[in-house]
Parts: sequence; C-alpha cells; structure tokens
Amino acid sequence: MKNYTTLILAGLVIVLAAVLVGVLVYMQNQPVEQRTVQPLVEIAEMEPDSSKWAVNFPNQYDTFMKTKTNNVDTTYGGSSAFSWLERDPRQVILFAGYPFSKDYNDDRGHANALEDVRATKRLNLDDSDPKHTPATCYSCKSSDNPGLWAELGMEAYDAMSFNEMTPNIENSIGCANCHEAGTMRLIVTNPALKEAFERQGKDWTTFSRQEMRTVVCANCHVEYYFKGDGKYLTFPWDNGTKVEEIIAYYEEAGFKDWAYPETDTPMLKAQHPEFEFFTAGSTHYEAGVACADCHMPYVRDGASKYSSHDVHSPLLNPEASCGQCHTDTKYVVGRVATIQKQVADTKIAAEDAILDAIHAIKLAAADPNVDVELLDQARKLHREAQFMWDFISAENSTGFHNPGVCARRACQVREPGTRSPDACGAVHQRPVPADYGYLLRRVQPVTEIQPNSPPHMAGNFISGNIRGARVVLPRKEKT
Ligand code: HEC
Ligand code: HEC
Ligand code: HEC
Ligand code: HEC
Repeated sequence: MKNYTTLILAGLVIVLAAVLVGVLVYMQNQPVEQRTVQPLVEIAEMEPDSSKWAVNFPNQYDTFMKTKTNNVDTTYGGSSAFSWLERDPRQVILFAGYPFSKDYNDDRGHANALEDVRATKRLNLDDSDPKHTPATCYSCKSSDNPGLWAELGMEAYDAMSFNEMTPNIENSIGCANCHEAGTMRLIVTNPALKEAFERQGKDWTTFSRQEMRTVVCANCHVEYYFKGDGKYLTFPWDNGTKVEEIIAYYEEAGFKDWAYPETDTPMLKAQHPEFEFFTAGSTHYEAGVACADCHMPYVRDGASKYSSHDVHSPLLNPEASCGQCHTDTKYVVGRVATIQKQVADTKIAAEDAILDAIHAIKLAAADPNVDVELLDQARKLHREAQFMWDFISAENSTGFHNPGVCARRACQVREPGTRSPDACGAVHQRPVPADYGYLLRRVQPVTEIQPNSPPHMAGNFISGNIRGARVVLPRKEKT
C-alpha cells in the first residue's frame, strides 16, 4: 500500500514537473506582450496620442518620455542638438548650395522629432517657390502619419506642402509608429518601407520577431529620396542596400539632390542610413543582434521586465546595452572609442580630399580649354566620393555599427585567399573602414599629384596630409 502511494506520488511529481516545463517553454516562446497583464483600455487602431497607450503600458510610456529631456552628449554623438557645421566647418563647403550648409544639427530623442523638424532653418515655407519643402519631410517625425497615410494615401500626402500638412500633425514620434494597437506587435508603418521590400521580393509580414526588432527602425533610419514632382517618398533599394548599389540606383534614375555651385556636379545627399550600414554584413548583424538589443535593452521595475523606450546612445548605459552579451563591458566600450576615433579622423581626411577635388574641378570648369569629357568624369567622381563620405558621416554611429574591421571568423569567410592567422590579423588591424579606403581611392583620380608631393601621397592617404599637396585636374592640351 505504502509502495503504491509512493509510486503515485512520484508519478504525480513527474507529471507536474513535465507540465511546469511545458508551461515555461510555452511562455518562453510567447511574444513578450502576451506575458504582460490584460489591457486596461482598448486602444484605437493607429492611435496617434501616446498618452492613451500609457494607461496600459506605463513603463514603456514613461521611459519613452525620457527621450524628451535627455540631453547628455558622448564624444561623437549623444542627445543634444549640437551643430555639425560649427563642430566641423568643412561641411559648410561640402554642402554649399544646399540647405544642409545653413543648418545641420545632431539628432535628439524621439519625443523631440516634431519640434526639431519645425525648427530647422532648412525649411522653405514659401509655397509659391517651386523649391518649397514638401509634406514628405514630416514622414519620420510623427505618430499622426500612419493614420494620415491610411486616410489620404501616401501619394496625396506627399503632393502636399509642408505648410499645408502642418495643421494635421500634432504629435511627435509615438507608439503608433512601431506598434499595432491591440496585439502590440512590431509593424512596418511607413508605406515607403513596405514598397521597397516588395520591389526586392520581400514580404515583411513573414519576418521573425528578432528581425522586426531591426526592421521597425528602418521605418525611418534609412537612406531615402523624394521621387519625381510628386515628391514621393522612395527608398533606393532596388539594386540592394549597400552603398555601391544605392549609388548605382541613383545613377540609373538620373537623380540629383542639387547641383554644386561652380563645379556643376550633380550631387547626392545621404540621409541617415543606419539600417543599410548595420545590415551590410556587420559583425553584430551577422550574429543576429538587432538594433533594439543595444538601443532598447530590457530593464526591470520591481517584478516587471520591459524594453526601455528611452532610446539614445548605448554608451550612456553600456551595462544594460552591451552587458547582456559581453561580460567585459569596459573592454567593448574601449573598442567603440578606438573605432570611432579612427573613423572620425579618416572622415576629416576624406573631407579634405574632397575639398581639394572641388577646388580643382572649379578651376577646370572655369577654364575655356578644359577637356569636357575629363571634367565630366571628375564630376562623377566628386558625386560618388562625396556620397560615400556622407553615407558614413550622416550615419549616426561614427562607424561603430559596421567598422569593417572584421573579427577573425568573419574575415575568413570574406577574404577566402587570406586564411592564415597573420593575414586575418592584418585585416583586423586595418585602421580604416573599407568604405573610406574605397572613397579615397575614388577621389584620387580627380587629383594629379605633383612630383614634389610628400612620400605619403604614393600610398597611404590616411596618415598623410593631402592638404599640403598641389592638385590639378588632368587636362588634355588643345592640339
Ligand atoms: C551592437 C550594438 C548596436 C546595435 C545593434 C545598433 N547600434 Fe546604434 N549605436 C550603437 C553605438 C555604440 C552607437 C554610438 C553612440 C555614440 O557615439 O554615442 C550607436 C549610435 C546610434 C545612433 C546615434 C545615437 C546618438 O547618440 O546620436 C543611432 C540613431 C543609432 N545608433 C541607430 C541604430 C539603428 C537604427 C540600429 C539598427 C539598424 C542600430 N543603431 C544598431 C550601438 C548599436
Ligand atoms: C521606435 C519604435 C517604438 C516606439 C515608438 C515604441 N515602441 Fe514599444 N517596442 C519597440 C520594440 C523594438 C520593442 C521590443 C519588441 C519585442 O522584443 O518583440 C517594444 C516593446 C514594447 C512592448 C512589449 C513589452 C516590452 O517592453 O518589451 C510594449 C507593451 C510596448 N513596446 C509599448 C509601447 C508604448 C506604450 C509605446 C508608446 C509610448 C511604444 N511602445 C513605442 C519599439 C517601439
Ligand atoms: C517614425 C520614425 C522613427 C522610427 C520608427 C525610429 N526612429 Fe529613431 N529617430 C527618428 C528621428 C526623426 C530622430 C531624430 C529626432 C530629433 O533629432 O529630434 C531619431 C533619433 C534616434 C536616436 C538618437 C537619439 C539621441 O538621443 O540622440 C536613436 C539612438 C534612435 N533614433 C534609434 C532608433 C531605433 C533603435 C529605432 C528602432 C527600434 C528607431 N530609432 C526607430 C525617427 C525614428
Ligand atoms: C545581443 C547580444 C549583443 C549585444 C547586446 C552586444 N553585442 Fe557586441 N557582439 C555580440 C556578438 C555575438 C559578437 C561577435 C563575437 C564574435 O564573432 O566573436 C559581438 C562582437 C562585438 C565586438 C567585436 C567586433 C570586432 O570588431 O571584432 C565589439 C567591439 C562589440 N561586440 C561591442 C559591443 C558594444 C559596445 C555593445 C553595446 C553597445 C555590444 N557589443 C552589444 C553580441 C552582442
């Protein structure tokens, strides 16, 4: 009898344990939102007012609102709106003839997006001027957009002027830009992103939850342009999302953002291609890490665990942002500093090289005997080189999202000819991200180096000072 009881009890324990394991596994596999308490109020579809969502999700709302007042800076980024033009006046010349030469401030937190777009001196609010700012400029700034796009359609939205759209827009970025009310799942809200994926044969609704933790940021943190007279918001991804593929797209489309004064170069302005840069084979992306892992780490409030919606530089809270995966937080933050310094220095060297190219092209363009074909070639190089520089410069991580300094494993994959540890080590040590090396090589043909140039001109542009050298555009003598 006693044996039976023991057996039954043991059986019960096993069954209960199995059920418990089952429940835990089940819960582990549920999206986070289903683990939270039942909604208190029902939220209307595409509700633009984030404070209405706050009733159900106070932790997410409270942390989100911190992006309004956070103003702490880091060495190269951070949350104040410092002026890039004051910090680096070369950019005034690089963007001459374009509104970015008047006003170019660093990004702030999401809750400030609307205030900041309305305050920028880049706006042209004179609707009688054909160059007036279109409504399209509101696309990434407000939680009113998903509702407006549904109501008007994006074509009609983009055909309006900024001025005309202003009365419709009341809220900065909010919950409705990233979440579907009710299910709270992450969604693509920007029609331009949906369409860009479709043209690539991709359907975002099939993406995994981890993929969406990156893709949701691509609603806004991407390269884009305004297509045609309707200023239709378009992502230039038909050839792919790498910088060369984007340049090829613009080339085929015959698109320019503006013509550079005196050189008449058809220029391109890069926006903020965090998504394209990060996903172009970076170590973290290849390892399955998402934007939200670093920028929206889980935090605890008593018993509840939630994603911090106080999105800002991860260098302000590296323990939460990096510490979940890296045990030695100090070391990885040190690596960020090294990578960013190299990129920032290279950025300046590239700017100097482009400024010299601009100078040379100006002189050539003013010369009645110039070889027009060569001049056009030089313009093309100027266009491409500056876009490549800008792609890294306007990307907000100062190179960190994809340093191009590959880890040993990745390097073996990418450079099949160089499998030895030494060769890999050399790639690892390479002080310059690939894009910069390429950029400088592309600028070089524009400039003909004089025989008395310092020795560094022959090889390593990066460590030398190209400003010291006299540069002239190659020029065919008239026969
Ligand atoms: C592995 C961690 C990591 C991942 C993943 C990551 N970032 Fe970052 N991000 C950083 C770091 C570090 C910086 C540099 C911050 C600084 O300079 O203060 C940064 C900077 C930024 C900035 C500028 C912040 C500022 O202070 O101005 C933006 C915007 C940004 N990231 C967006 C993204 C987006 C969008 C993605 C995904 C496409 C992404 N990040 C993926 C770590 C990450
Ligand atoms: C910029 C995009 C973005 C915005 C804006 C945003 N969220 Fe989120 N939210 C996320 C991401 C990314 C996650 C992580 C989702 C996951 O892991 O599946 C998340 C997760 C959540 C979750 C699931 C639980 C958790 O904390 O992980 C809730 C609830 C939530 N957000 C509520 C809100 C509310 C309320 C607002 C508005 C105040 C808001 N979110 C605004 C991107 C956003
Ligand atoms: C609806 C458009 C939109 C979405 C979606 C979006 N962002 Fe942003 N983000 C912006 C804009 C606009 C700014 C700049 C706001 C300003 O300067 O006032 C910004 C700024 C930032 C900054 C800089 C904050 C600071 O303090 O300097 C970071 C970091 C960032 N976003 C990361 C992300 C990440 C990560 C995601 C995805 C989880 C994301 N964003 C989704 C539009 C968006
Ligand atoms: C979700 C996990 C995760 C998070 C969060 C994360 N990392 Fe990583 N990190 C990885 C993985 C995985 C690798 C690749 C390791 C490898 O391949 O050896 C990596 C590699 C690195 C490397 C080496 C890459 C190289 O240049 O060789 C650095 C530096 C780094 N991380 C910095 C950071 C910083 C800084 C943060 C926080 C802002 C961060 N990581 C957040 C997972 C993460």
